[in-house]
Amino acid sequence: MKTTHKIIIGNALEELQKIPDESVDLVFADPPYNMSKKRGLGWKYSKHITMQEEWDIFSKDDYLQFNQTWIKECLRVLKHGGSLWICGSFHNIYQVGFILQHIEDVKINNSIVWFKPNAQPNITCRMFTESTEHLIWASKNGNGKKWKFNYGLMKKMNEGKQMRNVWAIPLTPKSEKWAGPHPTQKPMELLRRIILACTDEGDTVLDPFLGSGTTSAVAKMLNRNSIGIEKEKKYLSIIKKRLEPPQRKIGEDVEVEVLA
Ligand SMILES: C[S@@+](CC[C@H](N)C(=O)[O-])C[C@H]1O[C@@H](n2cnc3c(N)ncnc32)[C@H](O)[C@@H]1O
Repeated sequence: MKTTHKIIIGNALEELQKIPDESVDLVFADPPYNMSKKRGLGWKYSKHITMQEEWDIFSKDDYLQFNQTWIKECLRVLKHGGSLWICGSFHNIYQVGFILQHIEDVKINNSIVWFKPNAQPNITCRMFTESTEHLIWASKNGNGKKWKFNYGLMKKMNEGKQMRNVWAIPLTPKSEKWAGPHPTQKPMELLRRIILACTDEGDTVLDPFLGSGTTSAVAKMLNRNSIGIEKEKKYLSIIKKRLEPPQRKIGEDVEVEVLA
């Protein structure tokens, strides 16, 4: 099956406005969590430094406005019956949930707890070690359409038992970081479950905060089309490499379009 993968380098707040109403089947958003400090904390036992990315720093008011704006746009471009998945930690997820709860025709179907068995230790030693992230799965109902859930497939993937909402998935392995560094690259397994749960082959997946391109790479593997928006041009080469691995030349079955 031929699939197309559009990469847009630009600000999601502007680029989303150019996407037609009700044109995508799934939105996966891994937005800035607003958890970075101007200077991240490091510790003597490893090279790990806590987040200090400029794109991840907002005032409280700006952050609320930012989240309200992109969520509204994502819901506009989502088809009725489509799904919106949003990732977060305690820094942002309550605000995201609060925003969604105030929007008509949006139903929160689940919140998924992503448990990271190999999470980084806590550097301050003044609180518990965060070893989870949270994902909200909401759907845009209406026009007689309700959300898609590939129940049987999820059950099969979970050895014949209903899949639960706690997913134990290790941090992104080194083997998936071959195309270059990104500070918050998500594991492919996380995207695989989400895309398989809520879409069919040939559907279109949109990621407004594409980062290193995980969503597009997994969409391609699973025969889905993708549109990804990323503000930082420095990540474009990573995204392109992940969509066009050197060992497998892009054939007639895949088309990659870059709008930079
Ligand atoms: C949390 S990361 C996403 C990581 C991604 N899921 C992956 O697996 O690589 C968020 C990304 O959004 C980008 N970003 C931040 N603000 C943006 C905006 N307004 N428009 C588009 N991209 C933005 C950042 O540069 C960063 O790469």
